[in-house]
Amino acid sequence: MPLQRREGRSLGVLVLAAGLGTRMRSATAKVLHRLGGRPLIAYVLDAVRGLAPDRLIVVVGHQAEEVGRVCTSHGGWRSIRLVRQPEQHGTGHAVLCARPELAGFCGDVLIVYGDVPALTAETLAAFVAGHAQSGAALSLLTACFRDPTGYGRIIRGTSGELERIVEERDATPDERQIHEINSGIYCVAADLLLEAVGLLAADNVQGEYYLTDIVSIARSQGRRLWTRGVEDPAEVRGINTRAELANMEAKMRQSIVEKWMVGGVTFEDPATAYVGKDVTIGRDTTIGPNTHLRGKTAIGEGCHIDGDAYLEDARLGSRVHLKFGVVITDSDVGDDVQIGPFAHVRPGTNLARRVHIGNFVETKKAKLGRGTKANHLSYLGDVTIGEHTNVGAGTITCNYDGFRKHHTVIGDRVQIGSDTQLVAPVEVASDAYVGAGTTVTQAVPPGALAVSRVSQRNIEGWVDRRRAREAGAARTGGAGSAEAKLPRALTGVQVKKHLKVVDRSARRKRLARTQQKTAAKVATPRKRAERRVARVRQPRSASARRRTRR
Ligand code: UD1
Ligand code: CA
Repeated sequence: MPLQRREGRSLGVLVLAAGLGTRMRSATAKVLHRLGGRPLIAYVLDAVRGLAPDRLIVVVGHQAEEVGRVCTSHGGWRSIRLVRQPEQHGTGHAVLCARPELAGFCGDVLIVYGDVPALTAETLAAFVAGHAQSGAALSLLTACFRDPTGYGRIIRGTSGELERIVEERDATPDERQIHEINSGIYCVAADLLLEAVGLLAADNVQGEYYLTDIVSIARSQGRRLWTRGVEDPAEVRGINTRAELANMEAKMRQSIVEKWMVGGVTFEDPATAYVGKDVTIGRDTTIGPNTHLRGKTAIGEGCHIDGDAYLEDARLGSRVHLKFGVVITDSDVGDDVQIGPFAHVRPGTNLARRVHIGNFVETKKAKLGRGTKANHLSYLGDVTIGEHTNVGAGTITCNYDGFRKHHTVIGDRVQIGSDTQLVAPVEVASDAYVGAGTTVTQAVPPGALAVSRVSQRNIEGWVDRRRAREAGAARTGGAGSAEAKLPRALTGVQVKKHLKVVDRSARRKRLARTQQKTAAKVATPRKRAERRVARVRQPRSASARRRTRR
């Protein structure tokens, strides 16, 4: 619901999000860095959206397309205007780039930096209302930080009136002692803003056009200034470094978890609970360690999440039990459902009441009716299953033929035997049984039994015969494995000894055989040559001479 704001005057909002964020040392634009799983800019847009401004302008530069996409897709904002700052010459220059979008705009412009994610709509609304009441032309939201390092300091005159803002890099040592800082949130009459940004100069240490200088410009023109101190300084912390990001992540996490604890949720280990801003959790639900609840996850009452769970856009009913190690994305889970341990519930899954999904089961676009169970090792993708059906261990819906996905339909009270493959598209009607190990390729009619398997053959006495054969081979020195030569009924130690002995003697025999062969190989050519020589030298015998003559 839009918050209360000044009657009769238009409100424009200008969000500056063009910077790279040099101190992040990243190739990614700072406002795209994630906090609680969402880009920083999304938080700022949430806050300003609460004001229902008449005009919303976002200045983009670094990764303009990506930042723009996040902005326009965020919360369905209808009339967001994106302005490009081609080169980043400072916050003042960013506003200068947005000037054409503000031309002719009468009213106030609220300026917010895109790197202030903890900001709330309530704080902004109170600030805008205060600005209206004060009658000021320029208002500034300030904060007091114990450690103001990095922020622009508020310089006040002797009677406490706002004089100017000095950036830390341009500040004198004395000015750096000031704890009051510029939050970077301004509310300025459009005419003043349009004129003042045209007068900015880049005469500072960074050589940038500082938006902060509009304060002294307004003052020099005699315009009325007003400041408001923010109630909770943590709200206006800007993110400039990765350490600040991690710090805010931890704080944000803690405050969300505390909020849900107040609301009646038990966290077994709050330090390892990661709960997103848009998550809702019902009363008396218990969240175990290392649980991630992201996106628009909604959890009912009296649920129990054992731990090591990752839920994104998951919608859980009440009394759901998620055992250890469950991942659920974009799925609906009914009341009294049990899932896990170690289960993966992928997008488009819809589990009715009392469904059981057991270990190593993966579902995707799977609709399971009331009381249906798939307890072990299954893939259920693109499938509609009726009520009280039992899916046996190792069941697979073969939904993909390499080109297209196909659907499987299984009725009520069906028994799918273990190790069944359902080759989609295929249908198993209600009350049917599928025998274990079946590949279902045709429709199974109601109440039928489908079996597809090679019939079993028992060969009597096969083992004894085999053992005898192996033992015989071992006795005759044939090629039998050491195990085959094992006499039956030996103790474990005897078996080991036997195997060692067999192994050693076999090795000895092998070695001897190899030596013989090698000796033969070397010997043969030499012997042949010697015989040839001997034949030539020997005088032919009388009988040989006789044989030739004949
Ligand atoms: C700024 C203020 C500082 C204030 C602090 C509060 C100035 C000069 N300084 O400092 O007084 O205390 O914020 O957080 O304004 N941006 C652009 N284009 C640019 C430069 C920046 O769009 O050319 C955007 C950034 O994307 C960012 C925001 O402006 O979202 C602030 O820029 P940043 O560089 O973080 O300013 P700070 O040094 O923090
Ligand atoms: Ca900043």
